[in-house]
Amino acid sequence: MKAVITGGAGFIGSTLADRLVDRGDDVLVVDDLSSGQESNLDAARAAAGDRLRLEVCDIRDERTTGVIANHQPDVVFHLAAQADVRVSVADPALDAAINVLGTIRVLEGARQAGAAKVVFAASGGTLYGEPDASALPLRETQERNPGSPYGVSKMTGIDYLDCYQRLHGQDYAALALANVFGPRQDPHGEAGVVAIFAGRLLAGEPCTVFGTGEQTRDFVYVTDVADAFVRAGDRGSGVMNIGTGVETSVNTLYRAMAAAAGGPPDPVLAAARPGELDRSALDSSRAREQLDWSPQVDLQTGVQAVIDWSRRPD
Ligand SMILES: NC(=O)c1ccc[n+]([C@@H]2O[C@H](COP(=O)([O-])OP(=O)(O)OC[C@H]3O[C@@H](n4cnc5c(N)ncnc54)[C@H](O)[C@@H]3O)[C@@H](O)[C@H]2O)c1
Repeated sequence: MKAVITGGAGFIGSTLADRLVDRGDDVLVVDDLSSGQESNLDAARAAAGDRLRLEVCDIRDERTTGVIANHQPDVVFHLAAQADVRVSVADPALDAAINVLGTIRVLEGARQAGAAKVVFAASGGTLYGEPDASALPLRETQERNPGSPYGVSKMTGIDYLDCYQRLHGQDYAALALANVFGPRQDPHGEAGVVAIFAGRLLAGEPCTVFGTGEQTRDFVYVTDVADAFVRAGDRGSGVMNIGTGVETSVNTLYRAMAAAAGGPPDPVLAAARPGELDRSALDSSRAREQLDWSPQVDLQTGVQAVIDWSRRPD
């Protein structure tokens, strides 16, 4: 199969590249390397030879459409994004330029190529806002209520996919991802608390927990997420939540990581940050039904893998 992965030099995209190359696909990565790194593709490149190519291209650039169309992909996996909630609040126009207008350039490329499917990285953590806790874990039928420009731009991506399906018959799957963690996650951004804790614990620096630490997230491991993308390229349509359904408090996460890294048992507490969700978990029954997908890696195993990866020599 021929595939395009936008954002394929990033954390999730490069893990997906490993999987696609492994099964023999011909992969074009489209990435501007703004947060991703070419070295994330080393393993895929070593395995793929000339079956993997990187095109350094900003998806806002009009040449994106032609770059994708020329590859003649069967499936376009669209993961390139401005993925930082705080950046979206500070500069919503930048966020929309990448996540909305860039997405349109990608969709046009898929349409011109006659691709069978587009698989989109949507955001389950921001799509539904903060509904009543009795609704947890959240289903896809939950009312959409994004509380940030990033949440709005990602939701708009789904609306465009829906529109392209009705207008052009372009099939799609939008995977509403929970909090993804695993090796290659950038510890410098805001998104990856697991990566931040790992970096600080191994450097012997204190970890900060904001608020009580009892706020919960649904942590899903990156190879499970890559597996969901691969399956969604072959079957299933529409919006599907990808999470474990398990709420893990930040305090529980910290304790698991401190134990794995040999760090102090207690984090440093700081004032809660405004706008943070209190509780979060996603029900992935639809992905189980449509993709035969379920998460395979538990939190402890995943956290240990992150610590081991973070210990690697540079
Ligand atoms: N990590 C999570 O927990 C999570 C949760 C929900 C959704 N997502 C979504 O999954 C996708 C991948 O996220 P990630 O965690 O791997 O982040 P990442 O930052 O590692 O990957 C994003 C990739 O997109 C590239 N990129 C950014 N702007 C670009 C542009 N204008 N043109 C071309 N390439 C560009 C970056 O260089 C990077 O390689 C994103 O769409 C993100 O919104 C991630």
